[in-house]
Amino acid sequence: MINVTDKENAKKAEKEKRLISPEITEDDHGEMIVEGIRPRTLDDFIGQQKIKENLKVFIEAAKNRGENLDHVLLYGPPGLGKTTLAHIIAREMGANIRLTSGPAIERPGDLAAILTNLKEGDVIFIDEIHRLSHVIEEVLYPAMEDFEIDIIIGKGPSARSIRLELPKFTLVGATTRAGLLTSPLRDRFGVSLRFDFYEPRDIKTIIDRSAKILGVEMTEDGAMEIAKRSRGTPRIANRLMRRVRDFANVDNKKVIDKETANDALNRLDVDRLGLDNMDRRILKTIIKDYSGGPVGVEALAVTVSEESNTIEDVYEPFLIQIGFVNRTPRGRVATQAAYEHMKGLLE
Ligand SMILES: Nc1ncnc2c1ncn2[C@@H]1O[C@H](COP(=O)(O)OP(=O)(O)OP(=O)(O)O)[C@@H](O)[C@H]1O
Ligand SMILES: [Mg+2]
Repeated sequence: MINVTDKENAKKAEKEKRLISPEITEDDHGEMIVEGIRPRTLDDFIGQQKIKENLKVFIEAAKNRGENLDHVLLYGPPGLGKTTLAHIIAREMGANIRLTSGPAIERPGDLAAILTNLKEGDVIFIDEIHRLSHVIEEVLYPAMEDFEIDIIIGKGPSARSIRLELPKFTLVGATTRAGLLTSPLRDRFGVSLRFDFYEPRDIKTIIDRSAKILGVEMTEDGAMEIAKRSRGTPRIANRLMRRVRDFANVDNKKVIDKETANDALNRLDVDRLGLDNMDRRILKTIIKDYSGGPVGVEALAVTVSEESNTIEDVYEPFLIQIGFVNRTPRGRVATQAAYEHMKGLLE
């Protein structure tokens, strides 16, 4: 018999094997903390120019007024730097940060406990905020708007509700799916920032920076080769760089040049656009099993044995970004460009 935890563990293990998954793995985690690859200031945070410029203004204005920063919503595909930016916001505000996530807050009491322990100006980061339950959202509204919450004391007929004042905090919410937020929640964020995939140029700068921190030597076109195959995603870029370093190491190459990078990435099954086996499977399924589409995401998910959420959050955004898949009201459609890329791989 398999219990839920086993299943979840198996799933996690499966995900961790997936090299180009933009989702976080243990590997990323350790290196991030130990090696300090994660940028800590806005100036170290590369790319996403518009987001940075706006944030700088809001942070400076809040500081000048001596007020807390307005609540901030960060949204966009995984691995683009939402969590990193939340830390940076707290740091730039000179504030403490408390980290939690939508699924971790199960009962109103959990949220109340966090909120009542905050200090004036603190940042509370709620990852996957679209997964908060309605009950919790109801508690969150007055907390965000008026910095107060109502909590119920006691049970049954003697239960009564008391109102607690909260310190003025900043909520930073992150989500891969802004569309799943209820509008009352979305409306309570004063600042809403959308992350886009990074340009290869920015990804290259990120790789250069990480390589320097790790003491990895690379040529310009070696770094660019990794950048081009990183799906515009910093987390993937850092991970691919480390794996390429491993290959270079074993092959006794001191410097990662284009050829070394190219060779390693090919051996890792990451193609020249950064697509891996799962991406290719998705494309192949749409093209072969559904004659190019349209196919509903649910049917697609069943055919490739993946969860539809994962397809929507993790795989699809990039396939859409590079123009391989179109989302239509009737389902997903493979484009001509996808057919061309998959030529020879459709058997
Ligand atoms: N702008 C950036 N400049 C340099 N490095 C970055 C940048 N953004 C992200 N990174 C690197 O990528 C890693 C992943 O970023 P982060 O964990 O913040 O992503 P995320 O958007 O929160 O993803 P998820 O949605 O999976 O939580 C970080 O550890 C950091 O090293
Ligand atoms: Mg994160």
